[in-house]
Amino acid sequence: MCGIVGITSNKSVTSMIINSLRKLEYRGYDSSGIATLYNGSINEVKCEGRVDTLEKNLNKTKLSGNVGIGHVRWATHGIPSTLNAHPHSSENVSVVHNGIIENSTILKKILVKKGHVFKSQTDTEVITHLITEYLKKNDLKNSIIKILQDLKGSFALGIIFKDQPDVIVGARRGSPLAVGYGPKENYLGSDSYALKSMTNKVSYLNDGEFCIIKKDNIDFFDEKGKKVNKKILELSSNENNYDKGEYKHFMAKEIDEQPITIKNCINEYIDKINNDINIFNFPWKSDDISSIVLIGCGTAYHSCLMAKYWFEQLTSLDVSVDIASEFRYRKNRFKKDALYVFVSQSGETADTYGALDLCNKNNMKTCSVVNVVESSIARDSKFVLPIHCGPEIGVASTKAFIGQMLVLYLLCIKIAKSRKDISKDIFSEKIKSLKSLSGLIKESLKTENEIQSICNSFIEAKGSMFLGRGYSFPIALEGALKLKELAYVHAEGYPAGEMKHGPLALIEDGMPVVVLAPRDKYYKKTISNMQEVIARGAKVLLITNKSKDEVYSENIWQTIEVENTSEDLFPFLVTVPLQKLAYYSALKKGYDIDKPRNLAKSVTVE
Ligand code: F6R
Repeated sequence: MCGIVGITSNKSVTSMIINSLRKLEYRGYDSSGIATLYNGSINEVKCEGRVDTLEKNLNKTKLSGNVGIGHVRWATHGIPSTLNAHPHSSENVSVVHNGIIENSTILKKILVKKGHVFKSQTDTEVITHLITEYLKKNDLKNSIIKILQDLKGSFALGIIFKDQPDVIVGARRGSPLAVGYGPKENYLGSDSYALKSMTNKVSYLNDGEFCIIKKDNIDFFDEKGKKVNKKILELSSNENNYDKGEYKHFMAKEIDEQPITIKNCINEYIDKINNDINIFNFPWKSDDISSIVLIGCGTAYHSCLMAKYWFEQLTSLDVSVDIASEFRYRKNRFKKDALYVFVSQSGETADTYGALDLCNKNNMKTCSVVNVVESSIARDSKFVLPIHCGPEIGVASTKAFIGQMLVLYLLCIKIAKSRKDISKDIFSEKIKSLKSLSGLIKESLKTENEIQSICNSFIEAKGSMFLGRGYSFPIALEGALKLKELAYVHAEGYPAGEMKHGPLALIEDGMPVVVLAPRDKYYKKTISNMQEVIARGAKVLLITNKSKDEVYSENIWQTIEVENTSEDLFPFLVTVPLQKLAYYSALKKGYDIDKPRNLAKSVTVE
């Protein structure tokens, strides 16, 4: 989960690499580095910390050169430090790497025996020494073919060479890699986002491929070295979304954008004239599907879990949900009549991609719900449902979560209607409710002031719990995840009905507990569970919906009310105050909200 950039040009590339690295910081930011070729020798500058620090160091050394590679790191092998930062260079080559080399220990032993001296604790350095070794007896192309045969694991590589004045080699196995075409210069990037400020013309490497990039030409090869042709794709331009505008943080902007992103997504999918949902060219008949398997990681997994409740409620399909890292290594019973749905904002998450790949290899029906339509998961699934919410830059996922839930809900009611699991009238009612969703989310954003006044209790407490039943349970998990990843406080999401089976022991006097209880079919049961935690001293923040009926309970610490909507859509409305709770808790603690520690936007390691 690191960011790679490479540029070969007829002018100095240092500042362009720095600009691209800034864009890639969402992938990792514990250390950074850059190497260029200047006057026939490789020079590098590296540091622990962010690109800002790297830039200051570069200004001191005045690094120049017309070909170069840069890297932002999210540590896997070895602590974040200057020594472990990429690039890793020998006299002859310099390498940046994203991913993990699984056989690095064995390869290192062999190379040490041959006299190579290692400086870092990383697995990457093995690649540097390995190519250096092969280049003694082979040309560049054959050296690359040979190292790709030797390396086990998943990786994306960018390499420059002392003796090849304008060449960058890119190679991909498992981790994504894009190349970009510019005027008298060409680029390499771990995603197209890194290249967007320089070009909108890109190609993507497929698994096992490598490329030789020169400033006026790019050649692509398969793992055996046979030339392959590539389509040049044009990226859409929506630069405004890459700007924070008046906001202090992307996360705040992205939370507030949700009414618009919901509206955009609804406009994309709902056919207002025919009151239908447009899902064109879906490759399978709904009668050929009897079960659905939803797969994702982190927040995306929570949207899958949410969808399980909807699919079970509204369709007759068998539904299961899986965490991608578990699914891909279990003994799965693949079912021909199952639809496998992969949910991922970035479309690059290694585990989700691995699960998709496994299903594709078993010839399953694969469909993805993604935000980044140019991503590996989108490209390799048989059908794609974009969430249309624009770039999400804040590392913690907010508008993409809402977008994923929306698209999964649309898919659910579309399938329910085609299978005649719900009547046309019920379908129409659901479409009608969806049309008001954007406005209702706007109202949920107004809970901001109440949230700001109570977040101190969450950051000062030893820990907190988030409880919900049914439709509110996945949202409770998501609320707890947001608080822990941003405010670095312990928070746990739990099904409210499970508390009495052990976790009630955690409730102490004054412990903040969020209870999600919109007035749906679970409401009364959840309120009973809420009373159980209040009786043990919890300070309860109840999130429910506006109603003329009072909540039948005493000693509730705080209540936040969202608008009324249909049962299915409450999850969208109760999510928003929880996003704000996490945001303001982190803000009060002075943390780096858009780049929380130990998390990256695109988790491209297993
Ligand atoms: C949490 C968060 C992560 C991601 C997870 C999957 O806020 O951002 O939990 O949801 O890493 O990422 P995608 O959706 O890109 O597959």
